[in-house]
Amino acid sequence: MLNDVMIAPSILSADIANLAKDLEAIATADYVHVDVMDGHFVPNLTFGTNVVKAVKASTDVPADVHLMISNPDEMAVEYAKAGADLVSFHVEAATHAHRIVSASHDAGAKAGMVINPATPVSSLEAIIEDLDLVLVMSVNPGFGGQKFIPGSLRKVAQVAALAAERGVNPIIEVDGGCSAANAADLIAAGATMLVAGSAVYGKEDRAAAIAEIRAAGREGLTKRA
Ligand code: DX5
Ligand code: ZN
Repeated sequence: MLNDVMIAPSILSADIANLAKDLEAIATADYVHVDVMDGHFVPNLTFGTNVVKAVKASTDVPADVHLMISNPDEMAVEYAKAGADLVSFHVEAATHAHRIVSASHDAGAKAGMVINPATPVSSLEAIIEDLDLVLVMSVNPGFGGQKFIPGSLRKVAQVAALAAERGVNPIIEVDGGCSAANAADLIAAGATMLVAGSAVYGKEDRAAAIAEIRAAGREGLTKRA
C-alpha cells in the first residue's frame, strides 16, 4: 500500500448537514481525514469524539484523525477509543509524545506526529521509529482552502530521508493546499498520503477529483530519487 498514492479527503470542507452523503461520495479514498480543532491550539473549533463515532458508523473508509488541540496528552487516547484508525497529534502541543503514541497503540489506533510549517524535521529524530505516520503541515493549521507553502516540499524530502536512514517506513502525509497541481512533486519528494479538503469537496464529482489527484501523484512515483 505504501508504494501507491493514498488520498485522504478532509471533511472540514464537507457539508456537515449532509455528512453521510459526503462520506459516501469519497468511498474510493484511502482514509477520511477528520480535522479536530479546539479553538485554542488553532483559531477554529470543530469535531468531538462523537463525530468520529458517527464517521465510523457511516463509512468503511478508515478514519485519519488530525488533532489540532492543546491537550493531546489527555485527548488522543479518547479519539483512539472513539474508533480513530489513525490518530495524529502536534509535536508543538505534546508534553509526553512517546506516551501518547503508546496509549494510542494500546487503544488500537495507529499513531502519527504532526509538524507545523515552522517546526523542523529534527523534532522527529527521537521518535520516528515509533510512529506509523508523520504529517507535514503545508499550511498553518486552522482552516481549509489555504495556499500551499512551497518550502514544505523540502521538509517532506527530509522526513523521507530520515525514515530511510532509520530503516522505517511510516506513512508520510502532507496536509494543506494539496491538489492535482502539486501531487506529483509531493509524491516525488517522498510523500505517500495527501490530504485534500477543497481539492475534493470543492469539486462536483468527488470520486473524479480523488482519481485525478491520485493519477497526478502516481506521476511522481516515477520521479522518486
Ligand atoms: C488545515 C487542516 C486541513 C484542511 C486542508 O488546518 O488540517 O486538513 O482541511 O484543507 P485544504 O486541502 O483545502 O487545504
Ligand atoms: Zn488536517
